Amino acid sequence: MIHPVVNRCRQTLERNTRTSSSGHTYTVPDRDYYNHQWLWDSALAIEAWADFDPHRAADEFVSLVERGQWQNGMIPNMIITDSRREKVFWNSHASPAAPLNYATSGISQPPLLAEAAWTTAKHLPVDERRPFLHYAVEHLAQYHEWWYQERDFVNDGLVSVVHPYETGMDNNPALAEYMRCLDWRVPRLAIAALRRVTSIMREDTKHFPLSERADLDSTTYATLATLQLRRTRYDAARIAELPFQVQSVHTNSILARNNDILAEMAAESGDTVSDFLTEKSAQTHANIEQLWDEKQQLYFSRDTRTGKPLGVPTIASLMPLYTGSIPHHHASGLVRHIQNSESFGAPYGIPGQPISTLKRRNPGYWDGQTMWPFTTHLLTDALIRSGRDHIAAALDHSFLSAVGNHGASEYFSTENKSAYGTANFSPTASLALIIAKRRGL
Ligand code: GLC
Repeated sequence: MIHPVVNRCRQTLERNTRTSSSGHTYTVPDRDYYNHQWLWDSALAIEAWADFDPHRAADEFVSLVERGQWQNGMIPNMIITDSRREKVFWNSHASPAAPLNYATSGISQPPLLAEAAWTTAKHLPVDERRPFLHYAVEHLAQYHEWWYQERDFVNDGLVSVVHPYETGMDNNPALAEYMRCLDWRVPRLAIAALRRVTSIMREDTKHFPLSERADLDSTTYATLATLQLRRTRYDAARIAELPFQVQSVHTNSILARNNDILAEMAAESGDTVSDFLTEKSAQTHANIEQLWDEKQQLYFSRDTRTGKPLGVPTIASLMPLYTGSIPHHHASGLVRHIQNSESFGAPYGIPGQPISTLKRRNPGYWDGQTMWPFTTHLLTDALIRSGRDHIAAALDHSFLSAVGNHGASEYFSTENKSAYGTANFSPTASLALIIAKRRGL
């Protein structure tokens, strides 16, 4: 008998399926609110679909690449479905590198697509595996090279994000603090005016309570970051001059591991990865260690320009565990945090911030005591690969029981599993299906 959560989550993915004008099927995060194809949401969906419909998973991957990939290799965080507002906001067509037939955002998102493509390849019939891998390796290599060609501003293998949405954790308190203190090179009055316009124009709070969304400051700074990027027409040299530049520990950890997966995929398909990418990847793995803080036993993102760490500890501080390559004693330090009830050892799942540092009691958007599918996926996968399945199993159980109680909500409280945000969220459904599969449900 199919487990009821599995049934329900498959229905969520079916409900959130769309077909593009070019005939590709893809999963939107939520049909009512997040009605576009998002990069890391799709990566999780692909991973889930791979198990029960690998052709559908492969088609979703192709949809991202054929529709979204820019000529410079970038895969954007959003391929916009039919919102004039989003199209105007990002104005991707100002860049000669953007796709002609589709409107997209002008930024990317954490690069975990190789992981999803590799899972898909393993589920495809043997005769289809090699052609798919060949295609995936070619496009993923272009994508990963883009990170190094256009975002390795100080040439140390640690790529920078240039927008809070590029981390996928929009309202992450470390970034919120960074953006609050950043010299945006814009008069304060202009920022105050933008804040007023943002509070009137923002759409999200018409759908959800403000307490479940990014706060006004973060949303204002995100808008400002978009306006500054848009003014560059997404030109790499001009982006390199913008104020917002963060060597994100989270993005670099994901890139490092996905470079390794890409190399495995290439070995299987008989392709070669360029020396450039191989060397850069080694540099990323090595230099993530520069982000380690021995005293706090955590990793921290840093301001690319000043080298100053973004000192607020968040779940991103744990993410180097996902690389699989950090020194043993650093991995043990991170795991101690995950198990410590004063730190990230919450009753259910891993919260966005250490419990002892919480300023607010209620969960907020990527803030405080919240469990999100993306970060839960990355960290449980990391724990399993590092031989700590006993910890991962408890996290899997918390996540599945939250979905069992409330359905595929956007995020949950790590204190009591209450549900927040949108109710039919594909990434949550996808992770529940991935967990059900590995736990044999
Ligand atoms: C929000 C989340 C981001 C996600 C997107 C679509 O912006 O912060 O992680 O990709 O929604 O679900």
